[in-house]
Amino acid sequence: MDISQRKRTLLKVIVLGDSGVGKTSLMNQYVYRKFSQQYKATIGADFVTKEIQVDDKLVTLQIWDTAGQERFHSLGAAFYRGADCCVLVYDVNIHKTFDTLNNWHDEFLKQADMNDPEAFPFVLLGNKVDVDGGNSRRVTEKKARDWCASRGNIPYFETSAKEGYNVEEAFLCVAKTALENE
Ligand code: GTP
Ligand code: MG
Repeated sequence: MDISQRKRTLLKVIVLGDSGVGKTSLMNQYVYRKFSQQYKATIGADFVTKEIQVDDKLVTLQIWDTAGQERFHSLGAAFYRGADCCVLVYDVNIHKTFDTLNNWHDEFLKQADMNDPEAFPFVLLGNKVDVDGGNSRRVTEKKARDWCASRGNIPYFETSAKEGYNVEEAFLCVAKTALENE
């Protein structure tokens, strides 16, 4: 069969995490291969799409970038409905952004209100590993991996949106994890 005739799968991915951890930057790096040093807070939420091939399947990733800033947290249940994967992002150099992962995780499950929350796929990204050659790091890889294990074996990637490090790999895993849960 010609590849264009194969069924395309649309996967809805929600990206969550504190303000400034690099959610928008990761998405821009992944979809456009662009990075900007300048910080421009996301307001509300917006999505981009990217077509990728996972094994023999053509997949359209619909990636929803959200606002980390508290005053924009009004997305609510309707927004999370139908999600196939949730990507949590923290900044390895700022411990507080790691501490809030529990809130993001639990709040997402609560709002999304799915049938089987235990089985819902998450992927964790520890971003900005490039900063200061790793010398200003505040959260160890072990600590992050322990958290992932305690939350039901969440896949973990250390990334740099700035250098494009592990970004492609992370989103491929997101697509695979989401597909498995289809
Ligand atoms: P909100 O939209 O407020 O939720 O923030 P965000 O999570 O989308 O963060 P954003 O992508 O806007 O990045 C915040 C700042 O961190 C920007 O100045 C980026 O240039 C910078 N930044 C993002 N990722 C990296 C990275 O991997 N390394 C470095 N050095 N800087 C990064
Ligand atoms: Mg943003």
